[in-house]
Amino acid sequence: MQLIESKLPTHIGIIMDGNGRWATKRGLPRNLGHKEGMKAVERTIDALIKFKIKVVTFFAFSTENWKRSKEEIDGIFSLVREYLKTNRDYFNNKGVQVRSMGDLSKFPKDLSSELENVKEETKDNDKLILNLALNYGGRADIVYSVNKLIKSGKKEINEKDILDNLYSEGLAEPDLIIRSSGEQRISNFMIYQGAYSEFYFTKTLWPDFDEKCLKKALVDFQKRDRRYGGIK
Ligand code: IPE
Ligand code: IPE
Ligand code: MG
Repeated sequence: MQLIESKLPTHIGIIMDGNGRWATKRGLPRNLGHKEGMKAVERTIDALIKFKIKVVTFFAFSTENWKRSKEEIDGIFSLVREYLKTNRDYFNNKGVQVRSMGDLSKFPKDLSSELENVKEETKDNDKLILNLALNYGGRADIVYSVNKLIKSGKKEINEKDILDNLYSEGLAEPDLIIRSSGEQRISNFMIYQGAYSEFYFTKTLWPDFDEKCLKKALVDFQKRDRRYGGIK
C-alpha cells in the first residue's frame, strides 16, 4: 500500500516496549535487549527520514523506570550516552535536530552534558526533530508546566497556557502514538498532549521493530477518521 504524503502524521510518539522480554526469551540479560532496542531506534530514524516525518518522540526512560535495578538503569544510561556520541555526524548529515523532554537533573552529569551539547550542536537542523523523553512522565510534565505558570505570576490559567509550557513546548501534539510489545496502555506518556492522538499497538517487541512495522502503522493511521468530537 502507498503512503499519501498529505495524510502522514506530523508528530509520532513511540513507546518502545518489550526490550526485556526480547532478551528473556533468548535467555539473555535484559540489558542486551536494550542494546538491541537501540539498533531498532537507529533503523526507525532512518525510516522516519525516508517517509518524511517531521517530529518523533521516543519514550526512552520514564519517571517510573527508577523502580528498576541500578544495573539495568545504568545500562540504559550507558546506551543513551553511546548513542549520542556515535551519532553526532549522522544527526548533522541527515538534518536531525535533537531535543529532550523530562527532568535531566537526576541523570549522571556526563550524560546530561553530552545531551546538552548534542542539542546545541543540532539546533538548526530541520529535517527531523528527534525528541528524547528521558526521566519523563506525563503527570510530572503537567506539574512542570503549572509551576512555570505560577512562577510567571499567573493567577488564572487556561488549557493553552498549560500546553504551551509543557516540556514539549513548541512541538505539535502527537498525531500518532505507537506502542510495541502488545501492551495497550499509555504508561504516563504525553497524557496532556495526547488527548486526541491516534493509537497504534503492535505485538512486535521493540528490538524487532523496523521500517516495515512503521509503514504498517502509517498505512493504518491514514485510514483513521479524526473527528475531534465533531461530526463529518
Ligand atoms: C522498554 O522495554 C524499554 C524501557 C522501558 C526503558 P522494557 O524494558 O520495558 O521491556 P519489557 O516490557 O520488560 O519486555
Ligand atoms: C513505558 O514502558 C516506558 C518506556 C517505554 C520508557 P514500561 O515497560 O516502563 O511500562 P509499563 O511498566 O509496562 O506500564
Ligand atoms: Mg516494558
